[in-house]
Amino acid sequence: MPTPVDIAPARGKLGVMLVGLGAVSTTTIAGVLAIRKGLAKPIGSLTQMGTVRLGKRTEGRSPRISEVVPLSSLDDLVFGAWDIFEDDCYAAARTAGVIDRTLLDRIQPDLEQIKPWPAVFDRRYVKRLDGPNVKRGHNKKELAEQVIDDIHAFRRNNNLDRLVMVWCGSTEVFMTESPAHQTIEAFECALETNDPAIPSSMVYAYAAIREGIPYANAAPNLSADIPALVELAARTGSPLAGKDLKTGQTLIKTIVAPGLKARLLGVEGWYSTNILGNRDGEVLDDPESFKTKEESKKSVLDYILQPQLYPDLYDHLCHLVRINYYPPRGDNKEGWDNIDLVGWLGYPMQLKINFLCRDSILAAPIVLDVALFLDLARRANMRGIQEWLSFYFKSPVHAPGLYPEHDLFIQLMKLKNTLRYLKGEELITHLGREYYD
Ligand SMILES: NC(=O)c1ccc[n+]([C@@H]2O[C@H](COP(=O)([O-])OP(=O)(O)OC[C@H]3O[C@@H](n4cnc5c(N)ncnc54)[C@H](O)[C@@H]3O)[C@@H](O)[C@H]2O)c1
Repeated sequence: MPTPVDIAPARGKLGVMLVGLGAVSTTTIAGVLAIRKGLAKPIGSLTQMGTVRLGKRTEGRSPRISEVVPLSSLDDLVFGAWDIFEDDCYAAARTAGVIDRTLLDRIQPDLEQIKPWPAVFDRRYVKRLDGPNVKRGHNKKELAEQVIDDIHAFRRNNNLDRLVMVWCGSTEVFMTESPAHQTIEAFECALETNDPAIPSSMVYAYAAIREGIPYANAAPNLSADIPALVELAARTGSPLAGKDLKTGQTLIKTIVAPGLKARLLGVEGWYSTNILGNRDGEVLDDPESFKTKEESKKSVLDYILQPQLYPDLYDHLCHLVRINYYPPRGDNKEGWDNIDLVGWLGYPMQLKINFLCRDSILAAPIVLDVALFLDLARRANMRGIQEWLSFYFKSPVHAPGLYPEHDLFIQLMKLKNTLRYLKGEELITHLGREYYD
């Protein structure tokens, strides 16, 4: 039997710091508060509802995940947030328009207590937004120190034992790695010289990681996915996860594509289009922010279908992704997928998917799970990139030289095997010879 990993208990309060108090954050916070009061169920959350099989199929052991590994209880979560707007969490949730007013009103006093701290923000990186609740400083290093002061005050004022940070801010403009991102020294120097290669999300990520706090990125922008911050995380012990929550159309893509590939059906074309009317949609209407999102959405199919291994099936795949900002829809996104398939002897077929989803309703349980699992990882001394959390992301962060795993079912197996490994249980290979010997 393997030995269990030493994991510190989930004692005391966990501070969950969200950067951005928009649709995803307010839906997460209001959801947790409502669930805590018994007003709703945590549907979509593995940490709250998921089970994991332990041992052989004949043993009948499938405990809840929360009984297998020590996770923070929802009662012990305390939320804090930064935003460029001054609205408290109740007002921000009303603006986001995701959760019904009747439910929000029942938790109004608790939501109103969450008032966003001034943000690190620069319009250069999110062109369609501007707001008044913004920090001032001589350089980005000074702004990072102000974020660290907010973190310390939050910890002190709420008597917190541990912290996690999740970027739920808007998608920043498309950027690629630059020399300032390569080493900790170069990065810290770039903070002091106000190098444009450091967008706001990296300032928050740096603050969290320097403090040894777990950090996740719910959006597709680079943020902590650069060598300097991965190296800093290895030093300070921060676990990292990201990027871009796998919700809506990409979630469906990573469910359907592995199935088509499993049956070796060819795919000639995959056209995906969305209409979306929330603030995220408005930000993504800017071509530079959309480019960041597009890169994240498009890479999924290449990795799942592996055209280099199956050139006859996928080499000429035409994959197009469109996002259309359409205000009347609000957060209720509608996605259409048209898939042109090829079967036996080259005969064409078509599959059409019309998903009328609710973006933030799909995102909120992911934010909760990622926060709780990152806190678990911290207590288990698992530092740096947490590939076992790929399950939740469109562009999973991964070690250099590795390709990311996008298949949702392989990702889930990896996640559950990690929990078995932590607990010192046998990993499940699905070989199953022993049942027939
Ligand atoms: N909703 C989903 O299903 C989903 C899925 C995947 C990824 N995402 C990503 O998650 C992020 C949040 O989505 P959302 O729907 O909540 O968007 P949103 O526009 O409702 O909220 C984002 C919030 O971040 C704030 N913000 C922007 N820059 C900031 C900064 N530098 N500091 C502090 N606050 C800042 C904005 O003022 C806004 O209130 C987006 O980047 C989106 O692309 C969302």
